[in-house]
Amino acid sequence: MDSLSAMLLAFLAGFIFLYQRWSRPILWSTKLPFARKPTSTQPNTITLESSIHGVFKEPNLPPDWLVGNQTFELEKRAIFSKTWICLAHRSRFRKPGDYQSFTLAGFPLFLILSKDSEVRAFHNVCRHRAYTITKKESGTTPVLGCRYHGWSYNTFGALIKAPHFDSVPGFDKAQNGLFQISAFTSGSGFVFVNLEVAMTVGPPDVGPLDAFAGRGGLATRDTSPWVAGEVIEGTFNWKLGVKLLHLDTQRLEKGVAPAPWLANLISRFQGRQESCALFPTTSVATIHGTRWWYMVNLLPLAPEKTVVRCDLHCSEPASKAQVDKAMEKLMLLLQENVREIEVEYRTLTDAARDTHMPSASKKSEDHRTAILDRLQDHVKLEKAQGSQIHPAMRKRRENPQFEQAEQLCQSLDCVASAGVDISSKALAW
Ligand code: FES
Repeated sequence: MDSLSAMLLAFLAGFIFLYQRWSRPILWSTKLPFARKPTSTQPNTITLESSIHGVFKEPNLPPDWLVGNQTFELEKRAIFSKTWICLAHRSRFRKPGDYQSFTLAGFPLFLILSKDSEVRAFHNVCRHRAYTITKKESGTTPVLGCRYHGWSYNTFGALIKAPHFDSVPGFDKAQNGLFQISAFTSGSGFVFVNLEVAMTVGPPDVGPLDAFAGRGGLATRDTSPWVAGEVIEGTFNWKLGVKLLHLDTQRLEKGVAPAPWLANLISRFQGRQESCALFPTTSVATIHGTRWWYMVNLLPLAPEKTVVRCDLHCSEPASKAQVDKAMEKLMLLLQENVREIEVEYRTLTDAARDTHMPSASKKSEDHRTAILDRLQDHVKLEKAQGSQIHPAMRKRRENPQFEQAEQLCQSLDCVASAGVDISSKALAW
C-alpha cells in the first residue's frame, strides 16, 4: 500500500470516528433521561428502549391480559383516551381536504389538512346522530357531508349546512361542529393526537423523535414525503405486537435503492440502531443503508384484533416501480411477523388461558411493564373517585331546541338514506 492510500484510509477512518462521536450521542443521550417510569402525558420513545439499561421485574398480569374485554376497556380509558399517540407524518397530507381515517381502540377518528395548512383531528361521527363522516379510509374533500341527513362540515370541523335545522329557532350551528381532538405536529412533521377532553397535559415531548429524525435525514415533509401506505388486520392482542415496532429490516437493504456509498459505509460503522419506538403503539424506522423510512402503527380493534398500519416514506425521488417494490418487500416482512405473532397468540390463549407469559425480549418486557403501570395508575384514580373515568367521553347534547328540531326532522321523514344502519355501536363512544 503506498503512502497516498494509507493517508486516504487514515483520513477516512478519522472522518468516520468523528462522525460517530457527533451523531451517536444525539440518539443515545436521549435515552437516558427516559430511563424512568413514564408519565401518562408524553409519548415515550424510550419506554421500549430504556430496557437496554434498565432492570426488569416480572409484573403481575391480570388473568384476562390478552383476551378480556374488561382489560381492553380499561386500556381504552387508561391509555388510548389520554396519551399522545403518533399516527402519521405531515407529508401524508399534501393539499387542503386530504384526510386519513383511523379506528383507535374503538374510537373512530380522522386527520385532515385544514385550509390554513394545519393538520387537525376529529371524532369521525356526525354531530346529528353519530353516523360516520368520512366516506373512505382516505381521500380529499373540501366539504365533509354526512350521507344520512346531509349535515356538512368544512375542513375546520365547523357545521356549514344542516337541512331542516337551519330555520329552527335557537339552533346554533356553531355549537354543532365536529368534536375536535387535540392534535400536535412536531418540528419534523410527526402528527400526534390525544383524545383527552380536559387536556390537562402539555404537548408531547417530541425532542427524542425529532433528534432521531434529524439524524436519519427524515427531517421535513418536503424532503421526506409519504409515498405509500397499507394495513394488515391481525388476530392478536395489540400488546403482543411490540415485535412489529422493532423489525429487523436487514434483508430489505439489498432489495431497495441503495444510498450513496459513503453514507452507506458510515451507517454500517454506526451499528444498527435505526428505529425509534413511541409508547404505546408506534415506531419510526429507517431501512438500513437506504433512503427509505417507514412508520408502523398498531391500532387495536378488539382484545383479539389489531390493525397494523404501515406508511412508507422516501427522502429522495423514487419512481413508482421503486416505491411498489420497497412497499411490497416491507409488507411481506410485516406479514411474516404478524403471522408469527398470531401463532404465538393462539398458543398463549388456547393452551392454558392463564396468560402465563413466556420470557420475552427486554423491549417487550418493558413495554408490558409500562402498560401495566398506566393501568394501575388509572385504576387508582377510579377507586379514589368511586366510578370509572372516561377521559375521552363527550357530554351529550342537552338542548330543548335541538330535541324539538329532531322531532320535526323525524316527522318530516327526512331520512335521506333509507336503509343506512345507524347502529347503537356507533353511538357507544
Ligand atoms: S346528518 Fe349525520 S347522522 Fe344525521
